[in-house]
Amino acid sequence: MRDQAERLRQLAKKNIDDLSRSETRVIAVASGKGGVGKTNFTVNLALALQKAGKKIIVFDADLGMANIDVVLGVVPSFTLTHVIKGQKTLEEIMLDGPEGIKILPGSSGSEELVYLSDQQIQNLIRQWNNLEGEFDYILVDTGAGIHSNVINFLLAADDVVVILTPEPPSITDSYGLIKVLVQRGSTSTIRLVINQVSNEEEGRKIFRRVAKVVDEFLNVKIDLLGIITFDEKVSAAVKRQKPFILEYPNTKASKGIYSIVDNLLNQSPKKAGGGMKKFLLKMIKFFNSSS
Ligand SMILES: Nc1ncnc2c1ncn2[C@@H]1O[C@H](COP(=O)(O)OP(=O)(O)OP(=O)(O)O)[C@@H](O)[C@H]1O
Ligand SMILES: [Mg+2]
Repeated sequence: MRDQAERLRQLAKKNIDDLSRSETRVIAVASGKGGVGKTNFTVNLALALQKAGKKIIVFDADLGMANIDVVLGVVPSFTLTHVIKGQKTLEEIMLDGPEGIKILPGSSGSEELVYLSDQQIQNLIRQWNNLEGEFDYILVDTGAGIHSNVINFLLAADDVVVILTPEPPSITDSYGLIKVLVQRGSTSTIRLVINQVSNEEEGRKIFRRVAKVVDEFLNVKIDLLGIITFDEKVSAAVKRQKPFILEYPNTKASKGIYSIVDNLLNQSPKKAGGGMKKFLLKMIKFFNSSS
């Protein structure tokens, strides 16, 4: 009898402990057209959020392409593929970035998230669960476009941030991306970042245009997360493999990132984040149903 009561007490305590751990919010960064600034945005936002006291992990879901490693000058030796194959633990593949952010190198081909054995799934979930509550945000840097490799990550995220620039193909392709997300039944909150504009007003105009078309044709409301102006310091920082927010904290692009941090921290989310575990389970589900 005593044992039984003790066991119940332990169980209740465990559930309460679990509840009190704050859940990680998953923000995926996407774009219709490539090369618009996703990776720079993700890394610099991660650093600014970390400086604001949040704990951040960046998940590089577009590995194989020149990405986080290039912007930060860190090259991963091991990736999620090694974890899936049981050769490394998640802890072992995570890299330390500046300011205490962590980087999780995704697998070099997302086919690896397809046809996982039950044992591989259990192993991944067990390790992934240890990350729950460790981080306030996981920022997922994805590839451009509407390939299922990308869409599956976006469908699994709590929030999708779509980045676009004033170039017409970028505007059109961002609409195309949002359309695919809506058609696939996305439940993520969709927000726009207009990058490389000449001034705020240009950014607002572009936002209003896209939001109007999305509302009219897809019947979905999207929000503006922020505007970042074109800034030569961005490419100067990229050449030095240093994040611009650390190299040039007072430059225009850094100010754009800081105002986005304010928006993120002050806009109360429309719905609670699903946490790391739900993100992993949804990724596995989407990858295994679209192949
Ligand atoms: N606000 C900005 N001002 C000036 N240049 C910028 C700005 N944002 C991005 N860039 C330029 O755009 C280039 C591409 O950026 P980045 O690699 O972040 O794009 P991406 O969307 O991740 O590309 P890909 O689709 O290939 O992954 C950068 O090297 C930088 O020179
Ligand atoms: Mg990129």
